[in-house]
Amino acid sequence: MRSAALLQYQVAANMNEVRGVLELIQCPACKELIKSDLTCSGCGRKYSSREDMLILIDRETSELEWKWDRRILSKKYRNETLSGYEKLISEEIREARNLWWRAASPFLEKVKGRTVDVATGMGQLLNRITDGRPAEIIATDIDPNILLSTKREMDERNVKGVSYVATDARHLSFRDSIADYVTSFSGINNITDTKAVLKEIFRIMKPGGTFLMMEAFVDDNTNSADLADDYGLKDAYIMDRLLTILKDTGFSIKTRRKASSVIWKENAMDVFPLDGDKVYHYIIEIQKP
Ligand SMILES: C[S@@+](CC[C@H](N)C(=O)[O-])C[C@H]1O[C@@H](n2cnc3c(N)ncnc32)[C@H](O)[C@@H]1O
Repeated sequence: MRSAALLQYQVAANMNEVRGVLELIQCPACKELIKSDLTCSGCGRKYSSREDMLILIDRETSELEWKWDRRILSKKYRNETLSGYEKLISEEIREARNLWWRAASPFLEKVKGRTVDVATGMGQLLNRITDGRPAEIIATDIDPNILLSTKREMDERNVKGVSYVATDARHLSFRDSIADYVTSFSGINNITDTKAVLKEIFRIMKPGGTFLMMEAFVDDNTNSADLADDYGLKDAYIMDRLLTILKDTGFSIKTRRKASSVIWKENAMDVFPLDGDKVYHYIIEIQKP
């Protein structure tokens, strides 16, 4: 009886979050408003939801370049993937990542207001920005399976104030100027067409809003830079190229901090970067004027 009441409370709380987010969304294809039955009022495209997670992806415009193994929906598989990765990376990489998170901590503490986390994945950054604080956060990812897996985990821990929208960062399904903050950890690094992604992020941000990025970079003229080019990710991995795009998009750079660097040691899970190349971990805080 007690758990049924709790469940009802959780469902009601989730419904509030879904209702709230409905006022912020638009069709990723034609940009018109989406009605509460998740049909686009302009082009009639029909979208869907799963366990209170909206799925606003138009398969014609969004190619799924990154697809998680469907087994990620299994809690056991998810946990094994996480712990397996930690064991695979070298001690030096683990230490460099720890330094990165430590350096990011004061920046993460400043995140406030309506926040869109781009490419939430397993939710490492989401975990940190929800930690003990009241939040209005929209977690997003192109792959509904990973997002649902992260949502289940957050729901299980009773984390409130987060809504979940599966959307392509190159065609964000949000209306203009809705976000006070945008965050991304290793998101921009993993999405092709950096220019389109940054243009979309700029569009959904309020004037004066902040975009906090935690991304990795490699040196130009290395094998890793060539590989990034092959994957369509060179703009995202070469600092100078990214800075130029940020400025051309209209952003101003507030802070650019190198948190750590490490010589990459390949492992069975990461296809990038390449063994022996140096990787730099940065925290970049930028503003929409
Ligand atoms: C390394 S993970 C991000 C880690 C995550 N931000 C965290 O805090 O744990 C990269 C994520 O980018 C997502 N992704 C790839 N292409 C995308 C796109 N076009 N739009 C949105 N997300 C995308 C992948 O599904 C994957 O979950």
